[in-house]
Amino acid sequence: MINFTEPSITDLEKKYALDALEHGYLSGDKKYTKLCTEWFNAKGYKNFLLTTSGSSALELGALLTKIAPGDEFIVPSFTFSSTANAFMLRGAKPIFAEIEPGTMNIDADKIEALITDKTKAIVPVDYAGVSCDMDKIMVIAKKHNLFVVEDAAQAVGSFYKDEPCGLRADIACFSFHETKNYCMGEGGAVYIKDDELMTEAEIIREKGTNRKQFLNGLVDKYSWYKIGSSLLPSDLLAAVLYGQLERFDEIMEKRLHLWNYYYNSFEKLEKAGCITRPTVPSYAKINGHLFYILLSDIAERNAMLDYLRAHEVGATFHYVPLHSAPLGLEYGYKEGDLPITEEYAGRLLRLPLHFNMTDEDAATVVKKVEEFFNGKND
Ligand SMILES: Cc1ncc(COP(=O)(O)O)c(C=O)c1O
Repeated sequence: MINFTEPSITDLEKKYALDALEHGYLSGDKKYTKLCTEWFNAKGYKNFLLTTSGSSALELGALLTKIAPGDEFIVPSFTFSSTANAFMLRGAKPIFAEIEPGTMNIDADKIEALITDKTKAIVPVDYAGVSCDMDKIMVIAKKHNLFVVEDAAQAVGSFYKDEPCGLRADIACFSFHETKNYCMGEGGAVYIKDDELMTEAEIIREKGTNRKQFLNGLVDKYSWYKIGSSLLPSDLLAAVLYGQLERFDEIMEKRLHLWNYYYNSFEKLEKAGCITRPTVPSYAKINGHLFYILLSDIAERNAMLDYLRAHEVGATFHYVPLHSAPLGLEYGYKEGDLPITEEYAGRLLRLPLHFNMTDEDAATVVKKVEEFFNGKND
Protein backbone atom coordinates (compact mmCIF):
# COMPACT_ATOMS: atom_id res chain seq x y z
CA MET A 1 0.00 0.00 0.00
CA ILE A 2 1.28 3.48 -0.81
CA ASN A 3 0.08 5.38 2.24
CA PHE A 4 -1.61 8.72 1.85
CA THR A 5 0.58 10.27 4.53
CA GLU A 6 3.40 9.21 6.86
CA PRO A 7 5.52 11.20 9.29
CA SER A 8 9.29 11.12 8.76
CA ILE A 9 11.03 10.48 12.07
CA THR A 10 14.81 10.00 12.01
CA ASP A 11 17.54 9.49 14.61
CA LEU A 12 17.68 13.27 15.02
CA GLU A 13 14.13 13.59 16.36
CA LYS A 14 14.75 10.53 18.54
CA LYS A 15 17.97 12.06 19.91
CA TYR A 16 16.21 15.30 20.88
CA ALA A 17 13.23 13.45 22.38
CA LEU A 18 15.60 11.33 24.48
CA ASP A 19 17.47 14.46 25.56
CA ALA A 20 14.15 15.99 26.64
CA LEU A 21 13.27 12.87 28.63
CA GLU A 22 16.69 12.57 30.25
CA HIS A 23 16.87 16.23 31.26
CA GLY A 24 13.28 16.68 32.35
CA TYR A 25 12.18 18.96 29.53
CA LEU A 26 8.63 17.79 29.87
CA SER A 27 6.27 20.66 30.62
CA GLY A 28 6.01 23.62 28.28
CA ASP A 29 8.31 26.50 27.39
CA LYS A 30 11.58 24.75 28.13
CA LYS A 31 14.69 24.24 25.99
CA TYR A 32 13.09 22.85 22.84
CA THR A 33 10.08 25.17 22.79
CA LYS A 34 12.54 28.05 22.99
CA LEU A 35 14.68 26.62 20.17
CA CYS A 36 11.61 26.13 17.92
CA THR A 37 10.35 29.63 18.73
CA GLU A 38 13.74 31.17 17.95
CA TRP A 39 13.80 29.25 14.67
CA PHE A 40 10.51 30.84 13.60
CA ASN A 41 11.56 34.26 14.97
CA ALA A 42 14.58 34.09 12.65
CA LYS A 43 12.24 33.39 9.71
CA GLY A 44 10.45 36.69 10.40
CA TYR A 45 7.70 35.57 12.81
CA LYS A 46 8.54 38.10 15.52
CA ASN A 47 5.73 37.12 17.92
CA PHE A 48 5.40 33.35 17.78
CA LEU A 49 3.97 30.92 20.34
CA LEU A 50 3.82 27.15 20.14
CA THR A 51 0.41 25.73 21.04
CA THR A 52 -1.00 22.27 21.69
CA SER A 53 -2.53 22.05 18.19
CA GLY A 54 -3.53 24.04 15.14
CA SER A 55 -7.04 23.98 16.58
CA SER A 56 -5.92 25.53 19.86
CA ALA A 57 -3.92 28.15 17.92
CA LEU A 58 -7.19 29.10 16.19
CA GLU A 59 -9.02 29.14 19.54
CA LEU A 60 -6.38 31.45 20.97
CA GLY A 61 -6.70 33.61 17.85
CA ALA A 62 -10.48 33.77 18.26
CA LEU A 63 -10.13 34.78 21.93
CA LEU A 64 -7.77 37.60 20.96
CA THR A 65 -10.32 39.06 18.52
CA LYS A 66 -12.81 39.37 21.46
CA ILE A 67 -15.47 37.88 19.22
CA ALA A 68 -18.67 37.34 21.20
CA PRO A 69 -22.20 35.92 20.91
CA GLY A 70 -24.11 37.85 18.23
CA ASP A 71 -20.95 38.52 16.19
CA GLU A 72 -20.25 36.97 12.81
CA PHE A 73 -17.09 35.78 11.10
CA ILE A 74 -16.52 35.06 7.42
CA VAL A 75 -14.89 31.73 6.62
CA PRO A 76 -14.72 29.46 3.58
CA SER A 77 -17.03 26.48 3.81
CA PHE A 78 -14.29 24.34 2.26
CA THR A 79 -12.16 23.88 5.38
CA PHE A 80 -11.56 21.75 8.45
CA SER A 81 -14.08 21.96 11.30
CA SER A 82 -11.50 23.58 13.61
CA THR A 83 -11.43 26.79 11.56
CA ALA A 84 -15.09 27.41 12.35
CA ASN A 85 -15.19 25.75 15.80
CA ALA A 86 -12.65 28.19 17.23
CA PHE A 87 -14.94 31.17 16.68
CA MET A 88 -18.19 29.30 17.35
CA LEU A 89 -16.83 28.32 20.77
CA ARG A 90 -16.97 32.07 21.54
CA GLY A 91 -20.64 32.09 20.47
CA ALA A 92 -20.10 33.68 17.04
CA LYS A 93 -21.97 32.74 13.89
CA PRO A 94 -20.16 31.45 10.80
CA ILE A 95 -20.90 33.14 7.49
CA PHE A 96 -19.68 30.70 4.89
CA ALA A 97 -18.00 32.11 1.81
CA GLU A 98 -17.44 30.66 -1.65
CA ILE A 99 -14.06 29.51 -2.86
CA GLU A 100 -12.28 30.27 -6.11
CA PRO A 101 -12.04 27.07 -8.19
CA GLY A 102 -8.32 27.28 -9.06
CA THR A 103 -6.92 27.29 -5.54
CA MET A 104 -9.92 26.14 -3.45
CA ASN A 105 -9.23 29.22 -1.26
CA ILE A 106 -11.79 31.82 -0.20
CA ASP A 107 -12.83 34.02 -3.13
CA ALA A 108 -11.63 37.42 -1.95
CA ASP A 109 -13.92 39.16 -4.42
CA LYS A 110 -16.97 37.69 -2.70
CA ILE A 111 -16.07 38.65 0.89
CA GLU A 112 -17.31 42.22 0.95
CA ALA A 113 -20.89 41.26 0.06
CA LEU A 114 -21.00 39.10 3.23
CA ILE A 115 -19.95 41.85 5.65
CA THR A 116 -22.63 43.16 8.01
CA ASP A 117 -22.47 45.37 11.10
CA LYS A 118 -22.04 42.14 13.11
CA THR A 119 -18.92 40.96 11.27
CA LYS A 120 -15.86 40.84 13.49
CA ALA A 121 -13.33 38.73 11.60
CA ILE A 122 -12.33 37.25 8.27
CA VAL A 123 -10.78 33.80 8.54
CA PRO A 124 -9.09 32.81 5.27
CA VAL A 125 -7.59 29.33 4.90
CA ASP A 126 -4.44 28.59 2.85
CA TYR A 127 -5.64 25.33 1.36
CA ALA A 128 -2.92 22.85 0.38
CA GLY A 129 -0.34 25.35 1.59
CA VAL A 130 -1.23 27.81 -1.21
CA SER A 131 -1.58 31.30 0.21
CA CYS A 132 -4.81 33.23 -0.15
CA ASP A 133 -4.62 36.60 -1.87
CA MET A 134 -3.78 38.30 1.40
CA ASP A 135 -3.26 41.86 0.16
CA LYS A 136 -6.77 41.90 -1.26
CA ILE A 137 -8.19 40.48 1.98
CA MET A 138 -6.25 42.92 4.17
CA VAL A 139 -7.58 45.92 2.19
CA ILE A 140 -11.16 44.75 2.79
CA ALA A 141 -10.45 44.08 6.48
CA LYS A 142 -8.90 47.51 6.98
CA LYS A 143 -11.80 49.26 5.26
CA HIS A 144 -14.32 47.54 7.55
CA ASN A 145 -12.14 47.42 10.67
CA LEU A 146 -12.10 43.63 10.88
CA PHE A 147 -9.57 41.18 12.26
CA VAL A 148 -7.92 38.76 9.87
CA VAL A 149 -7.07 35.42 11.45
CA GLU A 150 -5.35 33.35 8.79
CA ASP A 151 -5.67 29.59 9.05
CA ALA A 152 -2.23 28.72 7.74
CA ALA A 153 -2.34 25.24 9.31
CA GLN A 154 -1.12 23.71 6.04
CA ALA A 155 1.16 26.55 5.00
CA VAL A 156 4.32 26.23 7.10
CA GLY A 157 7.16 27.04 4.69
CA SER A 158 4.90 28.63 2.04
CA PHE A 159 5.17 32.24 0.93
CA TYR A 160 2.80 35.03 -0.01
CA LYS A 161 4.70 37.32 -2.37
CA ASP A 162 7.96 38.14 -0.60
CA GLU A 163 6.94 37.01 2.90
CA PRO A 164 6.46 33.72 4.73
CA CYS A 165 2.75 32.84 4.94
CA GLY A 166 0.87 34.39 7.81
CA LEU A 167 2.84 37.60 8.16
CA ARG A 168 0.26 39.76 6.37
CA ALA A 169 -2.55 38.75 8.75
CA ASP A 170 -3.25 40.10 12.25
CA ILE A 171 -3.00 36.57 13.57
CA ALA A 172 -1.92 33.39 11.79
CA CYS A 173 -2.34 29.81 12.96
CA PHE A 174 -0.19 26.83 12.04
CA SER A 175 -0.38 23.10 12.63
CA PHE A 176 2.33 20.57 13.42
CA HIS A 177 -0.06 17.64 13.47
CA GLU A 178 1.35 14.29 12.38
CA THR A 179 -0.14 14.80 8.90
CA LYS A 180 1.56 18.15 8.31
CA ASN A 181 4.93 18.83 6.63
CA TYR A 182 6.71 19.40 9.96
CA CYS A 183 5.22 17.44 12.80
CA MET A 184 5.33 16.96 16.55
CA GLY A 185 2.38 14.55 16.76
CA GLU A 186 -0.14 17.08 18.02
CA GLY A 187 0.92 20.71 18.03
CA GLY A 188 0.55 24.10 16.47
CA ALA A 189 1.57 27.71 16.71
CA VAL A 190 0.25 31.20 16.49
CA TYR A 191 1.84 34.32 15.02
CA ILE A 192 0.58 37.65 16.36
CA LYS A 193 1.41 40.90 14.60
CA ASP A 194 0.56 43.32 17.42
CA ASP A 195 2.90 43.38 20.45
CA GLU A 196 0.16 44.17 22.97
CA LEU A 197 -1.97 41.29 21.69
CA MET A 198 1.10 39.09 21.98
CA THR A 199 1.40 39.91 25.70
CA GLU A 200 -2.28 39.08 26.10
CA ALA A 201 -1.80 35.80 24.21
CA GLU A 202 1.09 34.80 26.48
CA ILE A 203 -1.20 35.25 29.48
CA ILE A 204 -4.16 33.36 27.96
CA ARG A 205 -1.86 30.50 26.92
CA GLU A 206 -0.53 30.15 30.51
CA LYS A 207 -3.87 29.58 32.27
CA GLY A 208 -4.60 33.30 32.37
CA THR A 209 -1.47 34.10 34.40
CA ASN A 210 1.60 36.22 33.71
CA ARG A 211 3.88 33.26 34.44
CA LYS A 212 5.85 33.92 31.24
CA GLN A 213 6.81 37.40 32.47
CA PHE A 214 7.81 35.83 35.78
CA LEU A 215 9.97 33.19 34.04
CA ASN A 216 11.57 35.95 31.95
CA GLY A 217 12.44 37.82 35.17
CA LEU A 218 10.16 40.76 34.34
CA VAL A 219 8.03 40.42 37.52
CA ASP A 220 8.94 38.84 40.88
CA LYS A 221 5.73 36.80 41.23
CA TYR A 222 2.98 35.80 38.90
CA SER A 223 -0.76 36.00 39.27
CA TRP A 224 -4.10 35.44 37.55
CA TYR A 225 -5.02 38.24 35.11
CA LYS A 226 -7.32 36.86 32.43
CA ILE A 227 -9.59 33.98 31.54
CA GLY A 228 -7.16 31.57 29.94
CA SER A 229 -6.30 27.99 29.31
CA SER A 230 -3.35 25.62 29.08
CA LEU A 231 -2.27 25.96 25.47
CA LEU A 232 1.45 25.28 25.69
CA PRO A 233 2.69 21.93 24.41
CA SER A 234 5.03 19.59 26.22
CA ASP A 235 8.69 20.32 25.55
CA LEU A 236 9.07 16.63 24.72
CA LEU A 237 6.92 17.21 21.63
CA ALA A 238 8.77 20.43 20.85
CA ALA A 239 11.97 18.34 20.84
CA VAL A 240 10.49 16.26 18.02
CA LEU A 241 9.51 19.43 16.16
CA TYR A 242 12.99 20.88 16.58
CA GLY A 243 14.45 17.84 14.84
CA GLN A 244 11.98 18.39 12.00
CA LEU A 245 12.95 22.05 11.75
CA GLU A 246 16.62 21.14 11.48
CA ARG A 247 15.55 19.00 8.53
CA PHE A 248 13.37 21.79 7.12
CA ASP A 249 15.05 22.10 3.70
CA GLU A 250 15.42 18.37 3.21
CA ILE A 251 11.72 17.79 3.92
CA MET A 252 10.65 20.74 1.75
CA GLU A 253 12.79 19.64 -1.20
CA LYS A 254 11.43 16.11 -1.13
CA ARG A 255 7.82 17.26 -0.97
CA LEU A 256 8.30 19.78 -3.78
CA HIS A 257 10.04 17.12 -5.86
CA LEU A 258 7.03 14.80 -5.53
CA TRP A 259 4.54 17.66 -6.08
CA ASN A 260 6.34 18.74 -9.26
CA TYR A 261 6.57 15.17 -10.46
CA TYR A 262 2.79 14.77 -10.15
CA TYR A 263 2.15 18.17 -11.69
CA ASN A 264 4.31 17.49 -14.74
CA SER A 265 3.17 13.90 -15.15
CA PHE A 266 -0.51 14.87 -15.16
CA GLU A 267 -0.14 17.46 -17.90
CA LYS A 268 -1.08 14.86 -20.51
CA LEU A 269 -4.29 13.90 -18.72
CA GLU A 270 -5.21 17.54 -18.28
CA LYS A 271 -4.61 18.24 -21.98
CA ALA A 272 -6.82 15.24 -22.81
CA GLY A 273 -9.59 16.85 -20.74
CA CYS A 274 -9.64 14.06 -18.14
CA ILE A 275 -8.53 16.00 -15.05
CA THR A 276 -7.67 19.49 -13.83
CA ARG A 277 -4.46 20.16 -11.93
CA PRO A 278 -4.19 22.64 -9.01
CA THR A 279 -3.51 26.30 -9.76
CA VAL A 280 -0.67 28.11 -7.99
CA PRO A 281 -1.13 31.87 -8.45
CA SER A 282 1.99 33.92 -9.20
CA TYR A 283 1.82 35.50 -5.71
CA ALA A 284 2.15 32.13 -3.97
CA LYS A 285 5.19 29.95 -3.35
CA ILE A 286 4.12 26.50 -2.19
CA ASN A 287 5.45 24.01 0.35
CA GLY A 288 4.30 20.82 -1.39
CA HIS A 289 1.87 20.07 1.42
CA LEU A 290 -0.61 18.15 -0.68
CA PHE A 291 -1.40 17.31 -4.27
CA TYR A 292 -4.89 16.94 -5.64
CA ILE A 293 -6.56 16.45 -8.97
CA LEU A 294 -10.08 17.45 -9.95
CA LEU A 295 -12.21 14.86 -11.73
CA SER A 296 -15.23 15.76 -13.84
CA ASP A 297 -17.81 15.11 -11.12
CA ILE A 298 -18.33 13.42 -7.75
CA ALA A 299 -19.33 10.07 -9.30
CA GLU A 300 -16.10 9.89 -11.28
CA ARG A 301 -14.11 11.06 -8.24
CA ASN A 302 -15.58 8.29 -6.12
CA ALA A 303 -14.98 5.70 -8.83
CA MET A 304 -11.35 6.84 -9.06
CA LEU A 305 -11.05 6.66 -5.27
CA ASP A 306 -12.32 3.06 -5.27
CA TYR A 307 -10.04 2.15 -8.17
CA LEU A 308 -6.93 3.57 -6.54
CA ARG A 309 -7.66 2.02 -3.16
CA ALA A 310 -8.29 -1.35 -4.81
CA HIS A 311 -4.82 -0.98 -6.34
CA GLU A 312 -3.16 -0.12 -3.02
CA VAL A 313 -2.90 3.63 -3.56
CA GLY A 314 -4.02 5.51 -0.45
CA ALA A 315 -5.91 8.33 -2.16
CA THR A 316 -8.57 10.29 -0.31
CA PHE A 317 -11.08 13.12 -0.74
CA HIS A 318 -11.17 16.25 1.37
CA TYR A 319 -13.64 18.25 3.42
CA VAL A 320 -17.35 17.81 3.21
CA PRO A 321 -18.14 21.55 2.95
CA LEU A 322 -19.02 22.81 6.41
CA HIS A 323 -22.25 24.52 5.33
CA SER A 324 -23.61 21.17 4.11
CA ALA A 325 -22.40 19.16 7.13
CA PRO A 326 -24.96 18.38 9.86
CA LEU A 327 -23.96 21.37 12.01
CA GLY A 328 -23.92 23.69 8.99
CA LEU A 329 -27.50 22.64 8.24
CA GLU A 330 -28.46 23.41 11.84
CA TYR A 331 -27.20 26.94 11.22
CA GLY A 332 -29.72 27.34 8.41
CA TYR A 333 -27.55 26.44 5.44
CA LYS A 334 -28.65 23.95 2.81
CA GLU A 335 -27.21 22.08 -0.16
CA GLY A 336 -27.04 24.42 -3.12
CA ASP A 337 -26.15 27.53 -1.10
CA LEU A 338 -22.51 27.47 -2.23
CA PRO A 339 -22.52 25.75 -5.63
CA ILE A 340 -18.85 26.28 -6.51
CA THR A 341 -17.68 24.91 -3.16
CA GLU A 342 -20.01 21.92 -3.46
CA GLU A 343 -18.96 21.12 -7.01
CA TYR A 344 -15.22 21.38 -6.45
CA ALA A 345 -15.22 19.59 -3.10
CA GLY A 346 -17.03 16.74 -4.85
CA ARG A 347 -14.52 16.61 -7.68
CA LEU A 348 -11.35 16.76 -5.55
CA LEU A 349 -9.12 13.75 -4.95
CA ARG A 350 -5.89 13.90 -2.95
CA LEU A 351 -2.97 11.64 -3.82
CA PRO A 352 -0.30 10.19 -1.50
CA LEU A 353 2.51 12.65 -0.79
CA HIS A 354 4.99 12.27 2.04
CA PHE A 355 8.72 12.27 2.72
CA ASN A 356 9.06 8.48 2.77
CA MET A 357 7.65 8.02 -0.74
CA THR A 358 10.05 6.97 -3.48
CA ASP A 359 10.04 8.12 -7.10
CA GLU A 360 8.85 4.62 -7.93
CA ASP A 361 5.84 5.06 -5.61
CA ALA A 362 4.95 8.35 -7.28
CA ALA A 363 5.29 6.75 -10.73
CA THR A 364 2.95 3.94 -9.61
CA VAL A 365 0.35 6.48 -8.44
CA VAL A 366 0.49 8.29 -11.80
CA LYS A 367 0.27 4.99 -13.68
CA LYS A 368 -2.81 3.91 -11.73
CA VAL A 369 -4.56 7.22 -12.38
CA GLU A 370 -3.78 6.86 -16.10
CA GLU A 371 -4.95 3.24 -16.09
CA PHE A 372 -8.30 4.31 -14.67
CA PHE A 373 -8.89 6.44 -17.76
CA ASN A 374 -7.44 3.88 -20.18
CA GLY A 375 -9.78 1.25 -18.76
CA LYS A 376 -12.71 3.60 -19.26
CA ASN A 377 -11.73 4.27 -22.85
CA ASP A 378 -11.32 0.59 -23.78
C1 LIG B 1 -7.05 23.97 7.44
C2 LIG B 1 -6.84 23.37 8.80
N1 LIG B 1 -7.19 24.07 9.89
C3 LIG B 1 -7.00 23.58 11.12
C4 LIG B 1 -6.46 22.35 11.33
C5 LIG B 1 -6.32 21.84 12.72
O1 LIG B 1 -5.01 21.55 13.09
P1 LIG B 1 -4.72 20.49 14.25
O2 LIG B 1 -5.05 19.14 13.70
O3 LIG B 1 -3.27 20.66 14.53
O4 LIG B 1 -5.57 20.86 15.41
C6 LIG B 1 -6.05 21.58 10.22
C7 LIG B 1 -5.44 20.26 10.42
O5 LIG B 1 -5.87 19.23 10.15
C8 LIG B 1 -6.26 22.10 8.92
O6 LIG B 1 -5.90 21.40 7.84
